[in-house]
Amino acid sequence: MSRNLLKYVTKLAVPGEAPSVLQAIDDYAETMGGLIHLGQEKGALFDEVLRNSAAKRILELGTNFGYSAIRMAHNLDPSAKIVTLEIDPDTAAIARRIIAFAGLEQKIRVICGKARQIIEREFSEPFDLIFIDHYAENYLGDLLLLEKQGLIRTGTIVVSDNAVMFASQLGPYLHHLRDSGLYESTLHQPPRHSDGFEVSRRL
Ligand SMILES: C[S@@+](CC[C@H](N)C(=O)[O-])C[C@H]1O[C@@H](n2cnc3c(N)ncnc32)[C@H](O)[C@@H]1O
Repeated sequence: MSRNLLKYVTKLAVPGEAPSVLQAIDDYAETMGGLIHLGQEKGALFDEVLRNSAAKRILELGTNFGYSAIRMAHNLDPSAKIVTLEIDPDTAAIARRIIAFAGLEQKIRVICGKARQIIEREFSEPFDLIFIDHYAENYLGDLLLLEKQGLIRTGTIVVSDNAVMFASQLGPYLHHLRDSGLYESTLHQPPRHSDGFEVSRRL
């Protein structure tokens, strides 16, 4: 499936043009199904958050094929740098190729491995924005680890995808963001969409 996506993107999108790459991934998802990317509707709402953020140092948990990382690189300040973590080596390899096709390999670094282990060993400076979009069972543990490692500072924005779709599974996680007093937190959900993402600013 992932090789077919790569073929589709390189055939239909324009090299170096991120919007055409995003469009090709959205088209592929619509015609072939089976993709678990952010998508156009939540993506458009996410773009607004990105443009208002002034974030330059970004971490993403859950690269998949690079759709949201490309979206971030396209909407953030040109000097912004994104590090994105993907547990599956084949998926990470395809993501790297799609990101390179979009001309964004200087802005987006894909690290392959389990988010928890990479967070423990790789970073020492806090991030401006963190997009959490891997698997629901890891959201809380990995957020608490990011806090413990000093990678979240006052003003860091944590964006958590699937806050409606996986609301029950994410109960304790959303409770931490909304009720701990550590964050100011709001749900962003496109009209008539079955899912949304939580945007939480660290106080
Ligand atoms: C929902 S997809 C990410 C979608 C992507 N953010 C986008 O919108 O294009 C989740 C991805 O997280 C990866 N993943 C799951 N658990 C992980 C972990 N513990 N560490 C790193 N990546 C993980 C999965 O392999 C999958 O590719």
